[in-house]
Amino acid sequence: MGTMLQSDEIVITPFEHQVGGHKVVLQISKKLICKPREDSEVEFYRRLPEHLKECVPHFKGEIQVQYVENDSGFQLRTKLPINLQQDFQNESDMQMDNHCINANSKLCSCDIIKLEHSSNNSMKRTSEANTKSCKTCHTSDWSNQCLKRTMQQYALWSTSCSQQFIVLENLLADFNNPCILDMKLGRKQRAFDCTEAKRQLLESRCANSTSASLGFRICGMQLFQKNTGEYISQDKYIGRALDDEGAQLNLKQYFHDGITERRKEMLNIVEKLQHIHTAMSEQTVFSFMSVSLLLIYDSSADGKIDARLIDFANAVVAEDSSLDEHHKECNADLLFGLSSIISIIQGFLS
Ligand SMILES: Nc1ncnc2c1ncn2[C@@H]1O[C@H](COP(=O)(O)OP(=O)(O)O)[C@@H](O)[C@H]1O
Ligand SMILES: [Mg+2]
Repeated sequence: MGTMLQSDEIVITPFEHQVGGHKVVLQISKKLICKPREDSEVEFYRRLPEHLKECVPHFKGEIQVQYVENDSGFQLRTKLPINLQQDFQNESDMQMDNHCINANSKLCSCDIIKLEHSSNNSMKRTSEANTKSCKTCHTSDWSNQCLKRTMQQYALWSTSCSQQFIVLENLLADFNNPCILDMKLGRKQRAFDCTEAKRQLLESRCANSTSASLGFRICGMQLFQKNTGEYISQDKYIGRALDDEGAQLNLKQYFHDGITERRKEMLNIVEKLQHIHTAMSEQTVFSFMSVSLLLIYDSSADGKIDARLIDFANAVVAEDSSLDEHHKECNADLLFGLSSIISIIQGFLS
């Protein structure tokens, strides 16, 4: 039957803290996650210069992910390459071996937690359906939607048994109650190999959102609220509908844990963003488009933060190491977005 777990196989599950993206991100262990492989993203990580490495997650390699059906649903499984087995064995706290995704339960559709906004004006649109997450298993509703989309729309696992994924450092590994914000940087967006209709769609998404005006737009958020002890989340559709003022209020809301405004985290994040800005302004090898900035702080720790660039499926490596005008413009737009975020947060602090 092939459903028995072999001794060198492990079960991997949807990543409980996925806040954005379109395909599913899976969790291998406490320290490792993986996402569907794109040539361009692998190329990016393989050619990454040393001085940019601390601005992005560590790239750990590639794996094959297998889909296996059984009586109660299905499992996603992989065999880890030897260099990653060491990482995995060192993590005694991970016990996911028996996890099985119930194929009939339509994944997870648990309690709805409505995200309350500090000002009605901050939203052009809110939708209850777009702001739910699962209280019991904590897997974000977004992660479940992405898993469904990955299997249905992108048809992963429909034709062959296994699919290629890239393995990345889990940026949340050392955070107890991570508060996460995913923002797409730049004023324009691109996708490789897309149709004219898709190109126009991406263009209008930028023109009609804060991408064009502020150089970034909010693509997903998860907050751990200290007053209720619960996670709340917000998806990309809300971020897309915000105007400038709404995006700034939303960013402010990200730094509120339900009890206090996290000023120390704001300061530390600004410092890290300035560092990323400098590193990115010095590089001339890549053209960055549709890259995201992931902000993280720990609701249950004081001052602990991280900020990294993620998602390089649309990054381009310059031929003969000089960028043309269009690519230089992409990078200038990304730096503009980073500067906007820095000055908005600095505005909260002053
Ligand atoms: N290295 C990482 N560590 C922690 N979370 C991550 C990491 N990479 C991605 N994520 C989570 O997964 C989401 C989608 O990732 P992304 O790379 O943007 O995927 P996509 O290519 O589908 O847009 C992010 O919004 C974030 O929540
Ligand atoms: Mg993304």
